[in-house]
Amino acid sequence: MNTIATDIRNDFPILSREVNGKPLVYLDNAASTQKPSVVIAAIKNYYETINANVHRGNHLLSQLATDAVEQARDKTQAFINAAEREEIIFTKGTTDGINTIASSMTSMVKSGQNVVISALEHHSNIVPWQMLCERTGAKLRVIPINQKGEWILEEGLSLIDEHTAIVAVNHISNALGTINPVKSLIEHAHRFDVPVLIDGAQSAPHMAVDVQDLDADFYCFSAHKICGPTGIGVLFGKRERLEALPPYQGGGEMIKTVSFEKTTYAELPFKFEAGTPNMAGMVGMGAAIDYLTAHGMNKLKAIEDELLNYATKKMSAIEGMRFYGTAEKKASVISFLIDGVHPYDLGTLMDKFGVAVRTGHHCAQPLMDFYNIPGTVRASFAFYNNKNDVDVMVEAIEKSAMMLR
Ligand code: ALA
Repeated sequence: MNTIATDIRNDFPILSREVNGKPLVYLDNAASTQKPSVVIAAIKNYYETINANVHRGNHLLSQLATDAVEQARDKTQAFINAAEREEIIFTKGTTDGINTIASSMTSMVKSGQNVVISALEHHSNIVPWQMLCERTGAKLRVIPINQKGEWILEEGLSLIDEHTAIVAVNHISNALGTINPVKSLIEHAHRFDVPVLIDGAQSAPHMAVDVQDLDADFYCFSAHKICGPTGIGVLFGKRERLEALPPYQGGGEMIKTVSFEKTTYAELPFKFEAGTPNMAGMVGMGAAIDYLTAHGMNKLKAIEDELLNYATKKMSAIEGMRFYGTAEKKASVISFLIDGVHPYDLGTLMDKFGVAVRTGHHCAQPLMDFYNIPGTVRASFAFYNNKNDVDVMVEAIEKSAMMLR
């Protein structure tokens, strides 16, 4: 593993910098991943050689830019195995994708219906649905979890019925790393013809995703968590589901014809892509997908699984260690507290050792309430981390905790 990881690390320029006089140990990958040189170069090349607005001009640069972003759509389609390229909508990120669906379906939801989410959700997969419920009078239902941070599936399934407007759940919990049995949930929801939206912000980076195999109706993710740029993401939707929805935003690009009397809308995917899109972002995301695909998601997952096991074992030996999220199926995220130490203080001191982790509620306050804690320290690993990163982190935790107790 170390040989592969060393080669990979050379692809990420930022990993060779120092932080507070120490080599950077970047373990905040669930928040945002670092970028390989090929992604940075693709964005630079886009601006230096082909930048122009897309789908609008018949001059050469506009055509080149259009080809570049449409290639990114093809790459994205292949990355998540969508059946059709028109099912790939470019968004600002996962949050934007979820809000697109929650807003668009407003006119189709009635009081007396319900929306099912889970206790593991990020705020971005709670608040848009609460807002939909406020607009429509629908009720929010929440799939409960056990102490390990796993869905209580039977209870969850019983919440879905013929009055359910949509089920929206994450594939992997950003705060705990739990990999959720979304396929079983989707299968059950479809018995009632209920659409299911998967928040894939944490699964797209950590596993090979196949939206057709999952049979997901909607799947959202962000480029910046898969080694691509910020401000760009993807909303996948099954054609028939997207066609049934009205557009989210009005503007250029999303129309077929406009008059003051009536506007007709463009076909998919453009119906949901109002305004000039983030062209350089799309190209950068395409480069990130190429990079991940060249290595192979399964190989990258194996590296992360090994790191997760190694780190979990080493961290278990730290005095006062309490893990949050001990699910049977986990991605490479470790949330923890040390007895008698505030997570914010621990994270601040770890930074002095060059170790970047996230502390706090991880945009999952209801989940922290479930555990009756204000927050945790979260170490989240990417395939470019290695065992040395884990060793440095463990030493930083031990030394910091000693100073703080
Ligand atoms: N969703 C990101 C995280 O979990 C920001 O840190």
